[in-house]
Amino acid sequence: KGTIVIQLTINGAEHRLDIDVRTTLLDALRNHLELTGTKKGCDHGQCGACTVLVNGRRVNSCLTLAVMHEGDEITTIEGLGAPGNLHPMQESFLHHDGFQCGYCTPGQIVSAVGMLDEVKDGWPSHVSNGVENAPDLTDAEISERMSGNLCRCSCYPNIVDAIRHVHS
Ligand code: FES
Repeated sequence: KGTIVIQLTINGAEHRLDIDVRTTLLDALRNHLELTGTKKGCDHGQCGACTVLVNGRRVNSCLTLAVMHEGDEITTIEGLGAPGNLHPMQESFLHHDGFQCGYCTPGQIVSAVGMLDEVKDGWPSHVSNGVENAPDLTDAEISERMSGNLCRCSCYPNIVDAIRHVHS
């Protein structure tokens, strides 16, 4: 029948799904789990609106199938913070107006959180430059590391500011 029962760990909670084997992780989140904070922009890996963390690393959820992620720790924007208890990156985007229409914002924020973890871990090694955290990165380096996330409103300077000043 083309469907399969899988178990996904999302934001620390276990979810059992009976889905078509071809369902992307993005569609599983949005259409089967009502986790609609993760956005669908292009649906083919070009905009970054669908960014989630898989075991702490950034992934375009439109480019991967849900069935491939049993046993992985998946984090969506809903797992980072909630109204009244925002993640520091969410606070910083608010403080620095890191958005206009807001459609790309969940992906930008998830990506920024993942990006700073990559920097801390020195990953990938060929571009780590030995930097430890966001204030050590130049604006150009932040932009380069965030280049997988497009903003049609072109709020890039504010997005870079938000990331640079996340803990200040
Ligand atoms: Fe996945 Fe655009 S919706 S990259």
